[in-house]
Amino acid sequence: MSLDKGIVLNILESFKKLKILVVGDIILDRYVFGKVERISPEAPVPIVEVEREEFRLGGSANVAHNLSALGIKTFLVGVVGQDYGRHIIRGLLKEAKIGDLTVEDPKRPTTEKTRIVALSQQLLRIDYESREPIEGNTLEKVLEKLDIPVDGYIVSDYAKGVINRRLMERIREKKSFFSVDPRPQNKSLYFGASLMTPNEKEAKGMINQEEGLRALGWRLKRELSLQSLAITLGPRGIALFDKDFKVFPAKAKQVYDVSGAGDTVVAVLTACILAGWDWDIACELANLCAGIVVGKLGTAVVTPEELLESLE
Ligand SMILES: Nc1ncnc2c1ncn2[C@@H]1O[C@H](COP(=O)(O)OP(=O)(O)OP(=O)(O)O)[C@@H](O)[C@H]1O
Ligand SMILES: [Mg+2]
Repeated sequence: MSLDKGIVLNILESFKKLKILVVGDIILDRYVFGKVERISPEAPVPIVEVEREEFRLGGSANVAHNLSALGIKTFLVGVVGQDYGRHIIRGLLKEAKIGDLTVEDPKRPTTEKTRIVALSQQLLRIDYESREPIEGNTLEKVLEKLDIPVDGYIVSDYAKGVINRRLMERIREKKSFFSVDPRPQNKSLYFGASLMTPNEKEAKGMINQEEGLRALGWRLKRELSLQSLAITLGPRGIALFDKDFKVFPAKAKQVYDVSGAGDTVVAVLTACILAGWDWDIACELANLCAGIVVGKLGTAVVTPEELLESLE
C-alpha cells in the first residue's frame, strides 16, 4: 500500500482545482424505515408502521455526490420529471453543492426507487421510472447543458434513457477526458472512452465469448478503443487494463450494503487521473473509498475526514 496520510492530503488538495461534469440517469433513492408487528386484515401482507424516511441522491447523482464530497467542483446534467421528486433532487443537489444542470421533462416521472425496510431487511422496492430514450426539447436542452467548460466528464449510464448516440458524440467532440460507467446493452455508444468501469458481470455482458478475465478485458478495451479499462471485482478489488494488466486487491470488509460502490470507483478514478496522479494511486484510493462506502447503508459517499481516519 503506497497510500499514506501525506499523499491523501495532497490528493485532496489537488481535487480542489478540478471541475467535473457528470451526465446520466438521475435516481432518487428513498428509504422508508419502520417496524412490523402485525399482518394486514386486508391481504396476507405485513403492515409496516413507518418510523423514519430518508432521501438520497442515487444513480448518476450519487457519482456527482461522491465527487463533491471529496471537494471537487461538480456539475450534474440529467433529467427529472415535473413532479414532487424533482424538488427533493434539487434540494439534495444544493445541499451537496452540486451544480444543478437538470432538465425537466413533463413526459417522464423523476426516477425514484423506494425501499421499505423493517428489521434491517428490505421488504419491498417500489420503482417509478421511464426507460424511454429522451427526445425533442428535452434532448436538445440536455445537449446544451454539456457545453460548460470542465476538465472532464463522467457518463453514468443506468439505461433509463438519458445516454444516447448524439449525447456521446457531443462529449467526444469536446476532446476531453471522459469516463463511462456502462450498461452492457449500450456498449456501442461508449467507443473511444478514456476510461470505462464495468463490474465483472457487465464486462462479461459486453463480450459474447466465454473467456477468462484477462482475455476478456483486453478484447473489450480493443473493441471499444478504450484508453483504459477498470473492471471492478467486488471484494476482490479492481482489475486495471492500461498499458499493462494489474489487479489491485480490496481490503476485505464487513459489508453492509454494496450498492453505490461502483459509483464511488468511477468518481475517484476519474478525479485522480484528471488531477495527474498515476493509476496505482488512483486504484488504491478507489478501493479505499469504495471499501468505506460498502460499510454504509444504501447509496453513500466518503468524506475527507473518513478517508483520513481510515488510514490511522
Ligand atoms: N466486500 C467488499 N470488501 C471491500 N471492498 C469491496 C467489497 N465489495 C465491493 N468493494 C469495493 O467496491 C468496488 C466496486 O464493487 P463492485 O464490483 O461490486 O461494483 P458494482 O457492482 O458496480 O457496484 P454497484 O452496486 O455500485 O453498481 C470494488 O472494486 C471494491 O473496491
Ligand atoms: Mg455499478
